[in-house]
Parts: sequence; structure tokens; C-alpha cells
Amino acid sequence: MSHDSSMLVIHFFLVYLCHFSWCLYDRTNLIAGVKIAANDDILVSASNAFSNFAVAIHPFRNAALNRSTHCNIRYGTNDQFVHSVAVIGNEKNSSTLDIVKFVFTAEKMSTMTPYVCIISISKSTCKSTLECNDVYTHGFPQEYFLIGVDRSEKYAYGFTSSFVFKLNIQTNEIVLNRMANDTWPSLHFIPRALDIADSWAVIVGYGYENSIEKDYNDLGCLIDLSELTKLSCLLLNAETTYIVPSDVVTFNELYEMSVSIRNQTILVGIHRFESVVVLEKNNTSLSIVNTHTVHFSHSSSFGRGVAWIDNRTFAVLTRTTTLQTCGSQSMIFIYDGALVTSTSALHTFPNNQQILGSRLSNPHFVRMTITPKGNMVVLTDHADILMIPTAPIGYTSVWIDTSALIYRFRYVPMPCIGGTYKNHSGIGPCRICPPRTQNPGISVKQESICVPCSNSFCPLGASADIDSSIVPSYNQAVDYPETDDTTDIEDILLQNVFYIGSEFRCMIISPLLWTLIVGILCSIIGLAMCLLKRDRYHGWRSYRNCAKLIFKHTDIIGEGELWVGGLATFAIVVLVAFSYWFSAAFIQRYPIERISESVLFACNPSLMNAKFSSSLQLLALPKSIDSQAIFNLLNQQKFQLTLELVNTGFMCRNIKAQENFVDSNFIHLSIECTRPASNATTSVSFQLPTHSSNVQINMSGPHWIGGFRLCIRGDGVVDGSSTLRSLDFCQFFSALNQTIGRKTLVSITFTKNINITRGLNPEDSTLYTGLWIPTFGSVKLTDDAYYAEFGNYLRYTSSLTIIQIVLDERPFFVKNVQEPIVRRAELIFHALLFTSLCIELFAFVFLLTKLLLMPFLRLIQNRWRQCYYRQKRSSTVDMSSSTSTQVTQTSRVVDSFEGSTAF
Ligand SMILES: *[C@@H]1O[C@H](CO)[C@@H](O)[C@H](O)[C@H]1NC(C)=O
Ligand SMILES: *[C@@H]1O[C@H](CO)[C@@H](O)[C@H](O)[C@H]1NC(C)=O
Ligand SMILES: *[C@@H]1O[C@H](CO)[C@@H](O)[C@H](O)[C@H]1NC(C)=O
Ligand SMILES: *[C@@H]1O[C@H](CO)[C@@H](O)[C@H](O)[C@H]1NC(C)=O
Ligand SMILES: *[C@@H]1O[C@H](CO)[C@@H](O)[C@H](O)[C@H]1NC(C)=O
Ligand SMILES: *[C@@H]1O[C@H](CO)[C@@H](O)[C@H](O)[C@H]1NC(C)=O
Ligand SMILES: *[C@@H]1O[C@H](CO)[C@@H](O)[C@H](O)[C@H]1NC(C)=O
Ligand SMILES: *[C@@H]1O[C@H](CO)[C@@H](O)[C@H](O)[C@H]1NC(C)=O
Repeated sequence: MSHDSSMLVIHFFLVYLCHFSWCLYDRTNLIAGVKIAANDDILVSASNAFSNFAVAIHPFRNAALNRSTHCNIRYGTNDQFVHSVAVIGNEKNSSTLDIVKFVFTAEKMSTMTPYVCIISISKSTCKSTLECNDVYTHGFPQEYFLIGVDRSEKYAYGFTSSFVFKLNIQTNEIVLNRMANDTWPSLHFIPRALDIADSWAVIVGYGYENSIEKDYNDLGCLIDLSELTKLSCLLLNAETTYIVPSDVVTFNELYEMSVSIRNQTILVGIHRFESVVVLEKNNTSLSIVNTHTVHFSHSSSFGRGVAWIDNRTFAVLTRTTTLQTCGSQSMIFIYDGALVTSTSALHTFPNNQQILGSRLSNPHFVRMTITPKGNMVVLTDHADILMIPTAPIGYTSVWIDTSALIYRFRYVPMPCIGGTYKNHSGIGPCRICPPRTQNPGISVKQESICVPCSNSFCPLGASADIDSSIVPSYNQAVDYPETDDTTDIEDILLQNVFYIGSEFRCMIISPLLWTLIVGILCSIIGLAMCLLKRDRYHGWRSYRNCAKLIFKHTDIIGEGELWVGGLATFAIVVLVAFSYWFSAAFIQRYPIERISESVLFACNPSLMNAKFSSSLQLLALPKSIDSQAIFNLLNQQKFQLTLELVNTGFMCRNIKAQENFVDSNFIHLSIECTRPASNATTSVSFQLPTHSSNVQINMSGPHWIGGFRLCIRGDGVVDGSSTLRSLDFCQFFSALNQTIGRKTLVSITFTKNINITRGLNPEDSTLYTGLWIPTFGSVKLTDDAYYAEFGNYLRYTSSLTIIQIVLDERPFFVKNVQEPIVRRAELIFHALLFTSLCIELFAFVFLLTKLLLMPFLRLIQNRWRQCYYRQKRSSTVDMSSSTSTQVTQTSRVVDSFEGSTAF
């Protein structure tokens, strides 16, 4: 007796202790049991921590039409631990009835009495009535106490590892209440999840047949609901992985399972094996149709939850550590049932359009339900509830930021953003427009389709019809000229003076031609003078002598001795004059920057007095004081970066810029941003901190970029003889038919380009011109290959786009030197040399005449004379006197010519 009473005291003490410390009942645990249930009429979530049922009536109804009603129903007692809830939707007459109902299973903590209750709520007043029934008890706490309602909503069914029951909802009567070993004969079974069809249910859990070995297995059992008897059980996983019995008997999230029935097909999620098992019901038995085992790197919980969306597609809840970009540790993958692999997901939740607000602080999802109409409800580990209604065609349900202190977040259908479309209703995001089509996303009517583009630049996800010629690339880099073959002034003079081109323009400026013309004229005059010497033209002799005198005075070949030399001098004067004109004009053709018109004086129109050399030189080498200035100017030039995002939905508010430091530290840069309403182009510009910065432009939001143009500009400065040219170049980047990748690295290397122009005269200073010339590294523009390998759904998972620009400078510079071929003094000297050369040339011709031509002529004359006399002798002697005078005359002509060539 005393023993008994002391036991009683201890028992009460324990109960008392547990009652207040909740040692047996973890009131904060949301994962065990089913703490949330929903259909299209009612959403219920139970919170043991707050002793409250949160009820939303018509949770997915369009807010604009009839707002959903929210009711909080207090437990009314602290001595209640709710295990599971199930909703009783009265879809058929939901709008006429004012009452909605749900059921829950609970335990009286003080006595560990399990019971089941029906709560009826008035939609208009939130008034609730509670009807409860105790069920069979052993007097120990239940680990899992599941409840479900059949499709006809007549009965609710409860399952634990020790008992099962059937409750008539209308009459609030427990019609069946039996030991678990009656339902599962010769089988110890711990139910973990259930789903109920019309007359049958599938319950998954752990069980063993041999009570000595106690080898637990993953089992799926088909239950006949009329008598609550097992029809058949099926081993879900052939792997005989050792299951720790204590983990199965008590709550352990690793051993959670989930089940979802659609028509005759049943999905079972076993995240311990990263698998979803597809079962087919066949009268009284289940059979495995398929086992989808999907492994994502760094995630090991594929199948944490499963739910059918419609009779083809289903959702799989997976906990992940890699895809955290959407602010969640969990992902819901939506699959077409025909193909379930790690890359074949149709889309995910969350995604770049359906984000989780930062208020949810990176949760993971513990339970997911999809209502018959396809609306989704998600419970997070922070007890927040996400309600994602199915959105009509052209819409997607998006997160609406709210400042209210709520725990229920209702996504709201919004029209698809620019560049996307949605041609079916559902919970998913809008899809990206295919190449060569576009959707501006401004007219609400059109978001279901993308319209074909007419212009050239229309990649994937285009939101405008843009002509890419509006954003051209250009560059200031030019080829430095090369020096012509001839850089010797004498060669140039000779080439140009003794040249008659074939073109008319060349001919009329050809010195040689004019010299020849003058020479011919002079020859005619010379011939005339010779003829005038004849006795027959006696009257002209005075004129001839006068001309001879004049010509003797102009003679510079024979130093005033020969009148023929005087005539030749005219030709020399013409030749020399032309060469002086050429020289005078040629020397002006320097530097090439100052030459605008082409040459008049030479046949080659690009002839110039400049020679060029180009080399690379190390920046580290010491520089002269003169040249230092241009290096300073180049180093001080401020770069302004402008990034034009073409065909994008990113607005100015989405864009931020930062400068990166080592250790992933960064500072923000202030930007100027414009977005004209007319075209889908956003332009960001900011000053680059240094010439070797690493800057990053972050664009957040569910948008894409079709292409971008990167421009860097800098102002020019003139400082004495050093001129810094203004920098202006732009480069357009785009990938054919693709969007720009989520992370793009553009590396630009700058090279100093310095033109050194030496002075034409010794007193002129050397001019320096400097310009930065960029070169681009190869840029990986698209993530297409990544999506092709790891799944196209990844296109929609990230809502951050980064363009990183790394600037650097080459350790050498390009040194271009321009020098005149000839300077003034040198040219004068060469002109004089040339003059004397011309005179010498003519003198040489005279000399040749004297030495070669004259003896030859004389020979001919002698021969002719001999011949003549021989003839004469044979003919009459009378005629000899007159002939001899003629011969004397001829010999005199030769003599006089001979005299004029004497030097
Ligand atoms: C909105 O609810 C009121 C009553 O609460 C009802 O009379 C009305 O028909 C409802 N409207 C719609 C569009 O469902
Ligand atoms: C179920 O267990 C109870 C007691 O634990 C026992 O009395 C009963 O006979 C069992 N029923 C079956 C069908 O094994
Ligand atoms: C359910 O399955 C049966 C037989 O497989 C089929 O005839 C029926 O169309 C299915 N119903 C739905 C809604 O899929
Ligand atoms: C369904 O059951 C029948 C007979 O019970 C059997 O012949 C058939 O193979 C089963 N189908 C499947 C898919 O298990
Ligand atoms: C899927 O369900 C729809 C109705 O919801 C039905 O028209 C269609 O035939 C079903 N498809 C299959 C393959 O069962
Ligand atoms: C967009 O419009 C602005 C102003 O209307 C214009 O300056 C810019 O060049 C346009 N860009 C494109 C790509 O059409
Ligand atoms: C780009 O897309 C258009 C339209 O879909 C297609 O005709 C073209 O072949 C594609 N080009 C490439 C290189 O994929
Ligand atoms: C250097 O000279 C060339 C030829 O005139 C010119 O094209 C180029 O722009 C100049 N470069 C700089 C840096 O001034």
C-alpha cells in the first residue's frame, strides 16, 4: 500500500514536472505530426507553443473579390498537446454554408489521454464550437498521432503506433477504436505519414514482423477504411540499411516520410534515401512503379516532402545548402512525373520571381501541402506559413513585402515581368521568352505570349525590340603609320624630280617633263642660231650675235664661254626651280597630324617629310624630365565607366556598384543611373577609383540582361608640350540567342600609348601625346552550358546578376616616334648639292659630246670630204673652185660647234 502510494506520489510529481517543463511534449516542435492542413476553403495551423489554432477561411480567394477571413482559436486549456490537424473542406457547398470544420488529435498532457476533436467555425463571426472524444489509451504519450479525413468528408481516421480509430464527423461518434495490432496483425508498425483517398488510405512508416530481431523497415501499407484493416504492406526500400530502433520510435527528422495520393498513383518521399517512390494501387495491393533517386550535390534530403499538383506534375521538397540564393535552405522542385532527375525539374520554389523575403531569415521548409486546386502551402521551421496561390495565365504569384507583424505570407498573383510569359495557370514562375521574341511586360493582356521581334537584337528573355546598331562598339586604337621605303632626301629628290608619271596630274607637275620641253625649245633656238650663221641670212647676223651674247652671259656650264651652255642653263633653271619648289613644299609636310590636304608638288599624294618608329618600352625604365609630364597626365586621368544594360528589366533601383578588395571586402561606389521609359536600356555610370580597380555591378531582381555595352571615358588635358587625349571607347557584349550569365567577368588591360613628335627645327620642342588603349580579355558571356548540364530550372533560381570588371595596366608602353626626314639646314645643303649636280650633269653631257660625238662627226666629215674629192676629180675640173668654198663652209660649221663645246 505504502509502496503504491509512494509510486503514486512519484507519478504525480513526474506528471506535475512534465506538465510545466513539457519534458515529454516538445511544444515547439513543428515537424513531428501534422501541424498544418489546408484545402481550398480552410487553412489551419496548430501552435502548441502559443496554444492557438490559426485558421484562414478561403485562404486563396482573390483578395480583390472577397478577402479571406482569419480566425485565431485558442486552445482554451494549457493541458492540451495537439499532434495533428486535418481540414474538412466542404467544397461543394462552401459558399452557402457559414460553418467550416477541422479535426485535430491531441493529448491531455497531465493524464496522457489521447483524444480527437472537431472544431466548427462560423465564417462570419469566427465563433467556434469544440466537440471532443477520448480514444483508447494505454497511458503513455504518443509519438505520432496522425489524422486524416476521407474524400467524402464523412469520417476522420486516426492512427498511432498503438491504436487506430474512425470518427463519424457528422455525429461526432467514434465508430471504431481498436488496438494497432488488430489493424497490422503480426506486425509492429509506427506510422509516419498518411494520405487518404475515398475508401482506402496509404500509411507509410516503420515496422517489423519479427519481434525478436526487431529489424525495422520502410513500409507502405494499404488500409481498407471501412474496417480499418491492412490490405497489404510493401517494402519501400530494398536496401537493408540498419535502422536505429530508438530513432524510429521517437521523433527524428531524418526518419520523416511523406505520402501523397492522386487517383491510383501514390508518391512516397523517403529523404533518408534521397528518393521518391511511385506506387500504383491495384485492387488490394500496392506495387512499386518507379523509384526516383536524385542526388544534388550538398543536399541529402530529396523527398523530404511530396505532393501532387495535378495528375501529371508533383512537387518534391528538398533541403539544400547550395542553392541559397533565394533566401531559403529548402527548395521545392516541381517535376513532370515522366522524368525525375536532378536536371529535369520544371521549376522550383522559391525562384527568382517567387522569392522569400528577408524577414523569413533563410528558413527551411518542414511541411508542404498542395490543395486540390493546386494552391500551395508551406510551413517553415520558424512557424511561418507561406501561401502560394495558383496564378492565372500571364500571372505569377509573388512575394509582397509587408511591414505587418504576421506569420502568414500570402503571395499575390502579378503580371509577368518583361521578357517572360506564362501560358498556363499554376504556381510556377513566368518563363523566359524564346529567342527572337519579346514581351515588354507592360500590357497586362499580353503576358501569356511573347511576340516576334522585327529588329536585330532580340536574344532570350528580350523585353524590347532593339536595334543593336544603336549601341555600337568603337575604339580609339589606330595603326601607327609606317615609314615609306625611302627616307633619304636625295633619293626622294631624285625619285620625284626625274619622274614622269603616266597620270595627267603627275605629268603636269613633273620637273623632268618641263625641263625636256624647255630643252626642246632651247634646241630649236640653237638650231635656228646655227642656220642663221649661213651667209644666206647675212641680214640676221647682228641679231644672232646679240642672242649669242645674251646666251653666253647666261651660261653657267661653260662659265660664260658658250652660247649653247646659256641655252642649256634655261633647262637647268627649270629643273632646279622645280626641285626648289618641291623641297620647300616637302619640308612643310611635317608632322603628319598637321597635314590635311594631299600634295600638289609630287606624284605620290601621301608623300611626307616624316619617318616613324614604334617600339615597346618598359614603364620601369627612368624617363627624361620632358617625357615625365605625359606619364603623369596619363596616370592622373580619371576614368568614368558607363555600363549600358541593353534589353533588360533591371531598373535603377536594382543596381548597385562596389569596389572589391582582397579578402572579399568591398566598399560601395555611388552611381548615376538612367532608364529611359522608351527602351529597355538601363545605363549606369560611375567613376573608377583607380586604373587597376576591381569593380562589381550587382543587379538584384528576377530579370535578365540581353547584352551590355561597356564604355570608359576620360577627359583630355593639354599641359605645355604634353597632350593627354580624351579617352572614349565602348565595347558591346552579347551572346547570340542567349542572356548574359549570372556572373560575368570582364578584364580590361590598359596600355599607355605615347606619340613623340620631334620638332622640325632644332629650337622646336618635342611634342608628347598620350592615350590609354584598352584590350579585352576573353569574356564568358553565357551560362548556357551550365544550364544544359545542370538543368534549365537553374535559370530561374538566382536573382542576382553580377558583372565584374577588372582593370589592369601593362608594365610597358607603346612608344611611337615621329621625326622629320629632313630638317631645314640639311635641305638647303641638299638643294645646293642638287643644283650643282644638275649643272654637273649638263656639263657631263657637253663633255660627252665633245669627247665622243665630235670626233665621230669629224670622222664622218673627213670621209665625206674624201669621197667628195674623188668624185670631183673624175668629173670636170671647172667646177672645183666653187665646190671648195662649200667644203670650207661645212668645215667651219663643225669648227664653230667644236669651239662652243670647249670648256
Ligand atoms: C463576398 O462575400 C459576400 C458575403 O460575405 C457575398 O455576399 C458576396 O457574394 C461575395 N462575393 C464574391 C465575389 O464572392
Ligand atoms: C493485441 O495486443 C493486446 C495486448 O497487447 C492483446 O491482448 C491482443 O490479443 C493483441 N491482438 C492481436 C490480434 O494480436
Ligand atoms: C484515375 O484513374 C483512372 C484509372 O486509372 C482513370 O480512368 C481516371 O481518368 C483517372 N482520373 C483522373 C482524374 O486522373
Ligand atoms: C494488379 O492485380 C492483378 C491481379 O490482382 C495482377 O494480375 C496485376 O499484375 C496487378 N498489376 C500490377 C501493376 O501490379
Ligand atoms: C488529368 O486530369 C485531367 C482533369 O483534371 C484529365 O482531363 C486528364 O485526362 C488527366 N490526365 C491523365 C493522364 O490522367
Ligand atoms: C534608349 O533611349 C535613350 C533615350 O531615349 C537613348 O539615348 C538610347 O540610345 C536608347 N538606347 C537604345 C539601345 O535604344
Ligand atoms: C537563334 O534563334 C533563332 C530563333 O529561334 C534561330 O533561328 C537561330 O538558328 C538561333 N541561332 C543560334 C546560333 O542558335
Ligand atoms: C599617334 O599618331 C597616330 C598617327 O597620327 C595617331 O593616329 C594616333 O592617334 C596618335 N596617338 C596618340 C596617343 O596621340
